[in-house]
Amino acid sequence: MCGIVGFIGNRKASEILIKGLKRLEYRGYDSAGIALCDNKSSCRIYKCKGKVQDLEDLIRNKDSEGTIGIGHTRWATHGEPNDTNAHPHMSMNGKFILIHNGIIENYAKLKKGLEEEGYVFKGETDTEVLVNLFEYVYLKHLTGEERHIPEVVVRETLKMVEGAYGLLILCTEYPDLIIAARKGSPLVIGVGTGEYFIASDATPIIEYTNSVIYLNDDDIAIISKTGLNLMNLKNIKQKPNIQQVDFNLDEIEKGGFDHYMLKEIYEQPRSIRDTCRGRLDFKSKYVHLGGLYNVFDELVNAKRIIIVACGTSWHAGIVGEYLFEEFARIPTEVEYASEFRYRNPIINKNDIVIAISQSGETADTLAAVKLAKKAGAIVIGICNVVGSSIPRETVAGVYTHAGPEIGVASTKAFTAQITVLTMMAMSVGLANKGLNREEFSQLVDELYIIPEKIEEILEKSECIREISEKIKDVSNSIYLGRGYLYPVALEGALKLKEISYIHAEGYPAAEMKHGPIALIDEKLPVIVIATKDNSYDKIVSNIQEVKARKGVVIAVVTEGDTTIKSIADYVIEVPKIDFALAPLLTVIPLQLMSYYIATMRGCDVDQPRNLAKSVTVE
Ligand code: F6R
Repeated sequence: MCGIVGFIGNRKASEILIKGLKRLEYRGYDSAGIALCDNKSSCRIYKCKGKVQDLEDLIRNKDSEGTIGIGHTRWATHGEPNDTNAHPHMSMNGKFILIHNGIIENYAKLKKGLEEEGYVFKGETDTEVLVNLFEYVYLKHLTGEERHIPEVVVRETLKMVEGAYGLLILCTEYPDLIIAARKGSPLVIGVGTGEYFIASDATPIIEYTNSVIYLNDDDIAIISKTGLNLMNLKNIKQKPNIQQVDFNLDEIEKGGFDHYMLKEIYEQPRSIRDTCRGRLDFKSKYVHLGGLYNVFDELVNAKRIIIVACGTSWHAGIVGEYLFEEFARIPTEVEYASEFRYRNPIINKNDIVIAISQSGETADTLAAVKLAKKAGAIVIGICNVVGSSIPRETVAGVYTHAGPEIGVASTKAFTAQITVLTMMAMSVGLANKGLNREEFSQLVDELYIIPEKIEEILEKSECIREISEKIKDVSNSIYLGRGYLYPVALEGALKLKEISYIHAEGYPAAEMKHGPIALIDEKLPVIVIATKDNSYDKIVSNIQEVKARKGVVIAVVTEGDTTIKSIADYVIEVPKIDFALAPLLTVIPLQLMSYYIATMRGCDVDQPRNLAKSVTVE
């Protein structure tokens, strides 16, 4: 949700910024802009509506020199996407230049105050208010001496601000510095030799250095070519904690695929192996989740688990609910983080709250984590991005290790989250006797071979592509599933609607009779996830009900199923597996189907309209 990148050193900043913005474009792609400076001349700002490519075209024949620079790719919150509202923003008297990720909640009040002081605004963004607030504080609030101290200017300004921000600031008073500040929106600083890189995540940085510092909330970093001074809003000096990021450039390139989404779908055998590596012990039939050791007893004896998440991660949460209740017999609830945080939920002291998030930065999930912590719950994270905010707020957790997910539609993160939830529920179940040794060992065996089975499904992509061709022009669709396959229906529907803009509803199959059945006619594709499990006969009946009303049935079935084959219009077979693990297989054809349909319709699958990968606003 807005990408930020900055560079200070001896290289040509514009090249680093443009490359970095392209890597961050998954966070927003409504407009883009850069500001370039060097110690001698004044700064130049280039910005425009559209993608980073449009910005690159814009600066092609312009002066793009400068060894200090900041850049931004926007996902609009306040103000429509246009050239004026694009970042960077410059203050009215040209003293400050700013880029911002987040939302300034009291911007209307601040704007009114600034207008009374004679400030005039060109656009509608909260960021334009903020940049002018910096200038106002600098010119009107501080003594001449205080103005020379960048951290004082930043601190005094941010004291007036409510909301979330990741900020990069340039100021004519300190032409050889970039100032970074964080509250609620992520910022990472890459440490090079005589140079620093700043970004919303590490992807624009790793080409140059693997040494990074993740800023904490309330941190302010004053960065020059030769050094970095870190403190917080209370003026307490902070010791930079330099960590090594462990992914490489290949992982964030398309690797020969047309789109990141397709690459990430195909990566799933590997990503699930990585999620299980060192944790699922096939030989001794054990699961070791080191990140849970300090809370394992509490988890085993828990009276209640609450899972909080958004979007696709919420769908993984429903699978988690079924797993914990089945394997460990612990009552489990799944909550939309955005509802949970605002509805005065009952949270007991020893409740276990599990927050699931690919990015680890989703604003509502992060807020739910903070709320649960405050209420005394034991909060555990399941996140993909190492060092992100949620893992840093939680007492324990398990990284999914799916590798960077860049396609806006989540695919490999979903299967990695389910893999972690499965291992968690299995190990808790074994410890609290919800599962016996034999059941547990069987699950270890089945989970171990999931990657091979996904490979088998991926080999059938041509058949999935052909079925996709048949329904690519529809406007509506329904996805049905029961039990573990109900969240898969929800996820299949979400994937289709977000990248192809076809309306899709996911429903528990039996609920169809209570409303959606009215939609069924010969034009409506009904995608039924119907592998063999304990409600197989019931879903066969649901398929009959759809066919009786002339709906077009596409069924995902277990290999060798002849019953559904004889009723459905099209079938996609997946290998046989324990039904608790079926989501890991059955979601793969649905991911591929939405990918093919979207590309056939000419949609931009990696950057679907109106969406952003990381939702850091509520
Ligand atoms: C859908 C999708 C979103 C995210 C949601 C939560 O494909 O990607 O629905 O799942 O925004 O994001 P995280 O998991 O980063 O908290």
